[in-house]
Amino acid sequence: MCGIVGAVAQRNVTGILVEGLKRLEYRGYDSAGVAVLETENNHLKCLKSVGKVNQLAEKVAQNDIDGQTGIAHTRWATHGVPSEDNAHPHVSGDRFALVHNGIIENYSALRKSLQQDGYQFISETDTEVVVHLIHKLCTKNGLSLLEAVKTMVKDLHGAYGLCVIDKEQPDRLIVARSGSPLVIGVGIGENFVASDPLALGQVTDQYIYLEEGDIAEVTKDNIDIFANGEIVNREVTRIRGEIDDVTKGDYGHFMLKEIYEQSRVIQNTLNGRISAEHVLEESFGVKAKAIFDQITSVQIVACGTSHHAGLITKYWLESIAGIPCHVDIASDYRYRRIIVQPGTLFVTISQSGETADTLAALRYANELSYVASMAICNVATSSLVRESDFSLLTMAGREIGVASTKAFTTQLVALLLMTLVLGRRHGLTEEKESGYVHDLHKLPALVTDVLKQDTAIQQLSIQFADKHHALFLGRGPQYPVAKEGALKLKEISYIHAEAYPAGELKHGPLALVDDRMPVVAVAPNDELLGKLKGNLAEVSARGGKLFVFADESAGFDDEEEYQLIKLPAVPEVLAPILYTIPLQLLSYHVAILKGTDVDHPRNLAKSVTVE
Ligand code: G6P
Repeated sequence: MCGIVGAVAQRNVTGILVEGLKRLEYRGYDSAGVAVLETENNHLKCLKSVGKVNQLAEKVAQNDIDGQTGIAHTRWATHGVPSEDNAHPHVSGDRFALVHNGIIENYSALRKSLQQDGYQFISETDTEVVVHLIHKLCTKNGLSLLEAVKTMVKDLHGAYGLCVIDKEQPDRLIVARSGSPLVIGVGIGENFVASDPLALGQVTDQYIYLEEGDIAEVTKDNIDIFANGEIVNREVTRIRGEIDDVTKGDYGHFMLKEIYEQSRVIQNTLNGRISAEHVLEESFGVKAKAIFDQITSVQIVACGTSHHAGLITKYWLESIAGIPCHVDIASDYRYRRIIVQPGTLFVTISQSGETADTLAALRYANELSYVASMAICNVATSSLVRESDFSLLTMAGREIGVASTKAFTTQLVALLLMTLVLGRRHGLTEEKESGYVHDLHKLPALVTDVLKQDTAIQQLSIQFADKHHALFLGRGPQYPVAKEGALKLKEISYIHAEAYPAGELKHGPLALVDDRMPVVAVAPNDELLGKLKGNLAEVSARGGKLFVFADESAGFDDEEEYQLIKLPAVPEVLAPILYTIPLQLLSYHVAILKGTDVDHPRNLAKSVTVE
């Protein structure tokens, strides 16, 4: 995924830009570049390289660049292969340089019109149109850089976070944000810009987060932010210490911190991948479209929590995209004879990208007749990503708690995006897609709402701490959610927990139910709610203790019969993501009461790199 860094200062900013890019390497990229306005001769110097930031750093060192204003970028190819020509910054008229994250959907029409005006294109990217549009507005219409950006963004459809510099106004950066995040780093006599504050931890601890639609003019001494043409004030946030994923901050455990990060990292996973109305398919990479066009079924393979993400995806792919999906556990798949249906996409899901069984399954699948292999993964440099034909990265940040939380919910977000782009080819209408995308826009705020139940869940956890067993029930896509809830409880509290599809109760597990067996039910207000209620009545009738995580309007009002955690009404498609979160909290609080080692449960490893 692309990354942006910009700086305007009284000192040479080149080192700051390169260090910023290094800090963004974790996001995954295939080329990098930097553009600096050189102080001595006011020359616009632009250097790019395919491959690692270190290779760019070597070029920068050889060129001995010295400038006080500059921008830099790591590119993850979407339009056009990884190459120096396609790498950012893009330049126009040897005067303007621009870096961009996101996707300009109407670039093709803009490109044609600019070509008619005589502009020559060097790259295959969607981005290059933006810098030429700015050039045109400044040179032909006589606008300042700020005015040109304000005017130009009205012509852009899609998602962007962008930063541009102009040789004629060398003391400023202009930035604009719509659908792709940007933050301004506030310094003393110098200011910075980045797509992620992590890039600027070396130079500042004060940040202004730009909001959707914001445009800002940043000089070394001043920051003007405009929303709808008017100057606005945006709060400065202080983040003490280095921003990273490897400290617990104010949280007692990484697991709790990671549970609470979910709203932010889900937003990060959506950034640049959806517009207001639909999924930006190009964000899957250059090769994806031609592959998706051939797909008529999907085979998913994964382990542990990632396997549960696959099970939920099966429901989505079949009900939303209308295409069949098989899901297998990697350790089983890799030793089976596999019959591949023509037109099948092979998808692996993995937080680490190094799980031995998943990797072995991929290598096996690569020998079979799948159309292509795709990885849903949290680590850009992992073996799984490198050995797959293409990948969609989750933006969960580093996950340290052994029990996976934020990696799981971001996997689900990525898999839902995949479902929608495949669905388009199999009858999912634009209207329906836009409905799902509207729901996705609401997801980060809904996560925050669900987290408000933390104290109530903590209270509930007291009733689990002395138990030896627990049963988790769900129907339809909530069954894998129940499985994930049971796995979390097992992993960190060492309580034996089993998940069952609620309709299966009477075929065995009902025999286990008594007042020592807590029964947890996942009950969003979906079409199977009536059926689930019937199943729960079977539990009550046998004296079982019911703990129900339910939609506030689901009609579970008999407080004697149920211990209830009421969750806000949520769109049905998002229920598997949102109902997972209270179950994560439940297992966390039970583990705390039991005094186990929450972040490092016994006998388990974060990344299982051996068979
Ligand atoms: C281990 C971890 C789990 C994880 C599983 C798969 O068992 O403890 O949290 O779900 O491996 O890992 P992966 O990195 O492939 O998602």
